[in-house]
Amino acid sequence: MGEVCAIVGCGLIGRAWAIDFARAGWQVRLFDPVEGAVPAALAAIDGLLADLVENGLLDAEAKAATRARLEPASSLEAALAGAAWVQESAPEKLELKRELWCELDRLATAEAVLASSTSAILPSRFTEDLAGRARCLVVHPLNPPYLVPAVELCPAPWTSMDTLLRAETVMRGLGHSVIRLAREIDGFVMNRLQAALVEEAFKLVAAGICTAEEVDIGLRDGLALRWCFAGPFEVGDLNAPGGIRDYVTRYRSVFDSVLASALPRPDWTGPVLDEIEASRRLRLLAAEIAHRQRWRDRRLMALLAHKRQASATIGD
Ligand SMILES: NC(=O)c1ccc[n+]([C@@H]2O[C@H](COP(=O)([O-])OP(=O)(O)OC[C@H]3O[C@@H](n4cnc5c(N)ncnc54)[C@H](O)[C@@H]3O)[C@@H](O)[C@H]2O)c1
Repeated sequence: MGEVCAIVGCGLIGRAWAIDFARAGWQVRLFDPVEGAVPAALAAIDGLLADLVENGLLDAEAKAATRARLEPASSLEAALAGAAWVQESAPEKLELKRELWCELDRLATAEAVLASSTSAILPSRFTEDLAGRARCLVVHPLNPPYLVPAVELCPAPWTSMDTLLRAETVMRGLGHSVIRLAREIDGFVMNRLQAALVEEAFKLVAAGICTAEEVDIGLRDGLALRWCFAGPFEVGDLNAPGGIRDYVTRYRSVFDSVLASALPRPDWTGPVLDEIEASRRLRLLAAEIAHRQRWRDRRLMALLAHKRQASATIGD
């Protein structure tokens, strides 16, 4: 029998982690204090596992074995008993996390790694006063972690190197690629990259340079095609015969001019948002968002299947 992972909070992210751990052979206990939340999560997981099979990302046998490794826990204590890994995916509220983490630290075994899925709260904010704070960290996924390989590990100042290395080993065992931050910082790495890009997108629309749809074209039908398999440094390295240094020599002045002509910071909630929203609603009625989310997830699965196949036939 595999090691035990306790999933604490079984909403969108908790249930996705449950699939991720169980698929890799972990015994997964699901706990959520809200009545009916765990059965709802298990029902959703059944649908998600079926989607994975349909998209060729899981075979029927592995689906059955994955599902058999999931079990509801009747209390936090029962979920954490003997667990080697605790993945907290409770609501993004600091006070709630502070109280919950006192309980997690009290109930978990001394050897357990305690990981939070938080998107934006620094780990020092809810682990500082804990006796076992050296084994606490943020393990931030992109949604859903059973499809998206990248995860970021963000330590608090007191997180031990041993915890970080163990977390890295566990995440790699689940098939993740890992970003290990040297220290905590707002937005971690991925949301800082995203913030820079989204801010520029708002600026371009607010300044009337292009439309919201044209920003999406630039990413969807342009830059993201390459970024899908190579990051900006590899793209640069391959875009000049002499590699990244040659790229910087050739194009640095272009980027210097861009940065020198920085557009003013727009108010994201101002008229620019009316324009972006109108553009989006023209293409997708609000009532169709949930349906389109399913489309996005299917596209993501198809892309992942393609990336796996291309890695095998063309190489990474
Ligand atoms: N949604 C995303 O795209 C995304 C991506 C990465 C990380 N995260 C992070 O994951 C965490 C969970 O987000 P989500 O989108 O799954 O939210 P969610 O609202 O879907 O799920 C939260 C779950 O926590 C449960 N809960 C409420 N109080 C609790 C408590 N005291 N202890 C344990 N569980 C409790 C709720 O019943 C619910 O099932 C947040 O910290 C969020 O920032 C979310």
